[in-house]
Amino acid sequence: MATSLTILLAIVFLLSTPVTSQVDEIFYGGFSDVGANLTKTGVAEIDKDGILRLTNETSRLMGHAFHSFPLQFKNSTNGTAFSFSTSFAFAIVPEYPKLGGHGFAFAISPSKELRGALPSQYLGLLNASDIGNFSNHLFAVEFDTVKDFEFEDINDNHVGIDIDSLESNASSPAAYYTDDSTQQSINLQSGNTIQAWIDYDSVGNVLNVTLSPSSSKPKLPILSFPLDLSPILQEFMYVGFSASTGLLASSHYVFGWSFKMNGVARSLDLSSLPSLPEPKERHTALTIGLSVSSVVLVISAVSIIIYMIRKIRNADVIEAWELDIGPHRFSYQELKKATKGFRDKELLGHGGFGRVYRGTLPNSQTQIAVKRISHDSKQGMREFVSEIASIGRLRHRNLVQLLGWCRRYGNLMLVYDFMENGSLDKFLFDEPKLILSWEQRFNIIKGVASGLLYLHEGYEQVVIHRDIKASNVLLDNELNGRVGDFGLARLYEHGSNPGTTRVVGTLGYLAPELSRTGKATTNSDVFAFGALLLEVTCGRRPIEAKALPEELVLVDWVWDKWTEGRILEAVDSTLTGQYDEGEVVMVLKLGLLCSSYSPTARPSMRQVVRYLEGEVEVPAVLNPPCAYDGGKDDSPGFNDFVHSYVSSSYEKGSSCSVDNENVNAGFASVNASPLSLLNGRGTTGGSLGSSF
Ligand SMILES: *[C@@H]1O[C@H](CO)[C@@H](O)[C@H](O)[C@H]1NC(C)=O
Ligand SMILES: *[C@@H]1O[C@H](CO)[C@@H](O)[C@H](O)[C@H]1NC(C)=O
Ligand SMILES: *[C@@H]1O[C@H](CO)[C@@H](O)[C@H](O)[C@H]1NC(C)=O
Ligand SMILES: *[C@@H]1O[C@H](CO)[C@@H](O)[C@H](O)[C@H]1NC(C)=O
Ligand SMILES: *[C@@H]1O[C@H](CO)[C@@H](O)[C@H](O)[C@H]1NC(C)=O
Ligand SMILES: *[C@@H]1O[C@H](CO)[C@@H](O)[C@H](O)[C@H]1NC(C)=O
Ligand SMILES: *[C@@H]1O[C@H](CO)[C@@H](O)[C@H](O)[C@H]1NC(C)=O
Ligand SMILES: *[C@@H]1O[C@H](CO)[C@@H](O)[C@H](O)[C@H]1NC(C)=O
Repeated sequence: MATSLTILLAIVFLLSTPVTSQVDEIFYGGFSDVGANLTKTGVAEIDKDGILRLTNETSRLMGHAFHSFPLQFKNSTNGTAFSFSTSFAFAIVPEYPKLGGHGFAFAISPSKELRGALPSQYLGLLNASDIGNFSNHLFAVEFDTVKDFEFEDINDNHVGIDIDSLESNASSPAAYYTDDSTQQSINLQSGNTIQAWIDYDSVGNVLNVTLSPSSSKPKLPILSFPLDLSPILQEFMYVGFSASTGLLASSHYVFGWSFKMNGVARSLDLSSLPSLPEPKERHTALTIGLSVSSVVLVISAVSIIIYMIRKIRNADVIEAWELDIGPHRFSYQELKKATKGFRDKELLGHGGFGRVYRGTLPNSQTQIAVKRISHDSKQGMREFVSEIASIGRLRHRNLVQLLGWCRRYGNLMLVYDFMENGSLDKFLFDEPKLILSWEQRFNIIKGVASGLLYLHEGYEQVVIHRDIKASNVLLDNELNGRVGDFGLARLYEHGSNPGTTRVVGTLGYLAPELSRTGKATTNSDVFAFGALLLEVTCGRRPIEAKALPEELVLVDWVWDKWTEGRILEAVDSTLTGQYDEGEVVMVLKLGLLCSSYSPTARPSMRQVVRYLEGEVEVPAVLNPPCAYDGGKDDSPGFNDFVHSYVSSSYEKGSSCSVDNENVNAGFASVNASPLSLLNGRGTTGGSLGSSF
């Protein structure tokens, strides 16, 4: 009985053991769905050109592609792991030139589906609960394009060896050795094809990772790590790739792959592999090129016509420099027609800088919003228009797209995509027509953060918004948050009187250091974003002039709630308690963190995105926003006039109250400029100004 059972078990064991007509070599010089022994899960797919695409540029995706059959890595369960070598060619194409994520990995895993794994920083390999557990039996080499603090990544462009965890046992900035043994760095997310080799020697117990932008393998590896894989690998394991995207996204492509057990993998010739579909960049270049030529044509036509009309009635003069600026110029007639002659009926509102009209471009039927700005200083116009034209090249799904511009005498008209749902403030205050759910609000917040990160880091030059606030966040037809009016504040900052620096912005969103330095920075944008976070979550304006005195300043009020341990009381009551508590608390804490008086204590937008994505936890202990780290800056002006004024206007032992001497110092030293703060354009600014 016992023996037959043993035999039966042995048979079952033999049957369940994967068919061991053991394949010990894999070779793909390009992929195809027919005949490829690849199991794809998530969004991974093979395209018509024979390229394996693990993810596309949508947020929070995963893609896996594993060889369908397990490979034998050992002779017995307790045996020594075999040597192996593998080589593959890949490319990472970020969504926006400099912003992509998260990365991909070559993996050896007990399963080919990797169920329960998470996207973002987990690279589709593991999840928060199984990180670091030795029963994972996971070996991976990561090609990571995001610096995760959680996993102590060295930078945002590195190669790492991961064992049962995403905290790398060894890592190195992405680079390769040239023939004369000098190191040359490689940008993983350049979109260019990169070849990688991973070689494991089970006798010498060493694992090497080598990179190269070409077909030939450099002599020296970029990573050489002493490692015995025997305890990590099981007898049968799956080999393949895993990739993920987060709030930032990239497409991850593999063009060819070769693997060999106990030997050297066949080499890949990059020139014979399929190549990437035309990079997006070239498409836009092409369309820009096309539109340049067509617009140049249109402009020449228009200028000839205008020249003739001018002879008749000495109308609008297009100066030579305007033609140099290129692609984005609209004719005044076109806009006049689109807005039905700037009729009051088409008026959408009074923006911070002028009136905004709705329009429909006569030819394409595209809905547009035209902002009319009057600008008296003539000499600043040229710089400003150049800047606008350059800003017009910014493209991001969370920015309101600037389509073009038109100048007529001292009037400047900016043409934007029309945003169906108007501005965010209309959904938050004064009996909104629709109460946004927490889910919608959180999505808007994340969108704005992502748009702002793009302005700060995603473009050739740093673009500072200078006037982030609820009324500058517009909602498209799907209620996605889009940042509008970026770069416009520059117009006012250039100012008509060059002797003074005017602080531009809106009361309540103005970083304290602005009144002192007058210089807008990415940090001051973060401050305003913090105010936005609080107002979206609390459904209150940053400064409520009408509220009870002790609720005047939203940051202080939220801070008090936080220190009293009653933070949820700060949440907008119209949400009637329907929200994800973890998210709400995280956003409120992040709002407080961004509202720090000390610019350096505020997180960068990149960090903000990480917090919002849940990659990093917001610190459990917060410093009061008004805790000024002093050391760096002890100019007599002290911190901000507005905050000093507001905080001292009610004597309530608030954690942020300011002693009188400093307030007076603040008053004395900021004679003129802070008044311009109070000439705020918002209603709150106005009323506060008059009460002052
Ligand atoms: C897929 O596996 C089958 C059987 O193991 C093999 O004959 C075939 O060559 C494999 N195809 C590729 C592309 O490796
Ligand atoms: C990415 O793939 C997902 C799922 O296949 C799809 O829903 C999404 O539209 C794709 N995104 C892009 C930008 O192609
Ligand atoms: C595995 O077993 C085969 C024969 O069964 C033997 O030739 C080979 O050397 C063994 N490999 C290792 C690494 O033990
Ligand atoms: C594997 O190791 C276990 C104990 O760790 C031992 O009982 C078993 O005999 C070993 N098997 C072989 C094939 O060495
Ligand atoms: C984490 O992944 C493991 C499998 O690797 C799975 O069993 C577990 O349920 C996952 N945990 C969560 C929280 O998804
Ligand atoms: C590791 O995973 C195993 C199996 O999934 C589980 O039983 C064990 O508790 C985990 N260990 C830790 C420290 O989480
Ligand atoms: C890899 O790192 C983990 C800790 O992160 C450590 O426990 C483990 O021993 C390391 N493995 C090797 C082979 O160095
Ligand atoms: C790993 O790299 C070292 C040089 O750093 C070299 O001596 C060794 O032979 C390499 N091993 C493998 C398996 O490629």
